[in-house]
Amino acid sequence: MKESHGQYKIFFHMNLENIISKSIKKNEKPIGFDVFMNFALYHSQFGYYRSKNTILGHQGDFITAPETSDLFGYCIARQCKQVLNGGDILEFGAGSGVLASQILFELGRLNSLPNKYYIIELSAHLRHKQKQTIGRVLPELIDRIEWLTELPIGFSGVVIANEVLDAMPAKRLTFSKGHFVELGVNVDEYGFHWQKFNEPYLNSKVCLPLKPENEYTTEVNLQAMAWVSSLYDAITEGTVLLIDYGMDRTEYFHPQRNEGTLRCFYKHKASDNPFCNIGMQDITTSVNFSDIADSAINEGFKISGYCTQAMFLISLGIESYLTEEKDNEERIKLAQQVKQLVLPGTMGEVFKVLALSKKQTVKLDGFKEKNFVSRL
Ligand SMILES: C[S@@+](CC[C@H](N)C(=O)[O-])C[C@H]1O[C@@H](n2cnc3c(N)ncnc32)[C@H](O)[C@@H]1O
Repeated sequence: MKESHGQYKIFFHMNLENIISKSIKKNEKPIGFDVFMNFALYHSQFGYYRSKNTILGHQGDFITAPETSDLFGYCIARQCKQVLNGGDILEFGAGSGVLASQILFELGRLNSLPNKYYIIELSAHLRHKQKQTIGRVLPELIDRIEWLTELPIGFSGVVIANEVLDAMPAKRLTFSKGHFVELGVNVDEYGFHWQKFNEPYLNSKVCLPLKPENEYTTEVNLQAMAWVSSLYDAITEGTVLLIDYGMDRTEYFHPQRNEGTLRCFYKHKASDNPFCNIGMQDITTSVNFSDIADSAINEGFKISGYCTQAMFLISLGIESYLTEEKDNEERIKLAQQVKQLVLPGTMGEVFKVLALSKKQTVKLDGFKEKNFVSRL
C-alpha cells in the first residue's frame, strides 16, 4: 500500500511539471513567477490547494494561527461582535474550517451570531473538509454557513481573510543594470530555473525601491492588490480584517531583504526553492501591507487599523481566557498557545492585522493598545 501511494505521488508530481513545462514551451519565453505559482498552488487537478493530499495543521506542511489555538478565533469573534450590527460574516480561504468554528462558537456564547457565515473557498477538497469540521463541532449552526463561488452582492458585515493574501500568486522582480526586470521561470532538460525578462518592469500601481543594490530581488503581488480593490464594490457597509505575515513598505524593501520573501513549506521545513515538490509544497510571499492599503484607499476604503497580531489579540483581551480558566492543566495548555500566538519569536510580530472599513466609523477594539497606520 505504502509503495503504491509513493508511486501515485511521483505520477502526480510529474503531471504538474509536464503541464507547466508545456505552457512555458507554448509561450516561447519564460512565464512570470505568478503564473508558475498559480499552476503550483491552484491547478484545477494537481495544484497544492486543490489536492486531496493537502493537509493543513500539525500533520501537514505548516500551521496557521487558528490551527494553533481556539483563542485566536475567539478574539476575532470579539472584534466581529463590536462591528457586526446585524450583518453577516464572509471568510475567504477558510482552510480546514477551524477558524469559522471558533468564531461561530464564541459569537454564540456572546449572543451575537450572524445570520449568515459565508465562505469563499477555491478548493473543493477544502470545502468538503470545512463542512466536516463545522458539522462535527457545531451541527446546530451548519445551516448558517453558505459556500459561495463569487462575491455576494450588497454584503454588509465583516470580511475575514487569514493567511490568504500570502497564498496569492506574486511576481518576482530583480534589480539589474539600473532597473527592475521580472524574474520569470524557464525550463530546460535539467528542469525549471529562474530567467530574467529582457524589458524593464514598469507598473504605476506599485512603488519599488529607488536605488537598490544590483541583483536586489523582491516580489509584488498585483493579484492581492486587485482582490482588495474588488472587495470594495461588493460591500455595502462593513469591516475587512486581513491577517497575514508581512510588513509595511519600508521594512519590505529593507536593503538586507535582498533575496525577497519567497518561501516554500514542505512538512514543516522551509526552503526558498519553488522548483521542487511542485504541487506538494506550499509557496508563499510576505504581504506588502502598504501596497494593499494603497489599493484599498484608491478604491474608497478607510484604513481603520494596522498592528501586529500580538497587539491585536492583546487588545481584544486574549489573556482574559487564561484568567477565566479554572482548570490548572487546561490553563497551562492555553498559556503555551497564547505564547505561540503573541511572542515576537513565534507568530506575534511577523503577523500583522490590517483593518479596512466602508461606511463604518467605529474605533475597532483590536487596535486599542496600538495602531501603526502611519507606518503604512
Ligand atoms: C494558507 S491557507 C490558509 C487557510 C486558513 N485561512 C487558515 O488560516 O488556516 C490559504 C488559503 O487561501 C485560499 N485562497 C487563496 N486565494 C484565494 C481567493 N482568491 N479566494 C478564496 N480563497 C483563496 C487557498 O485556497 C487556501 O485555502
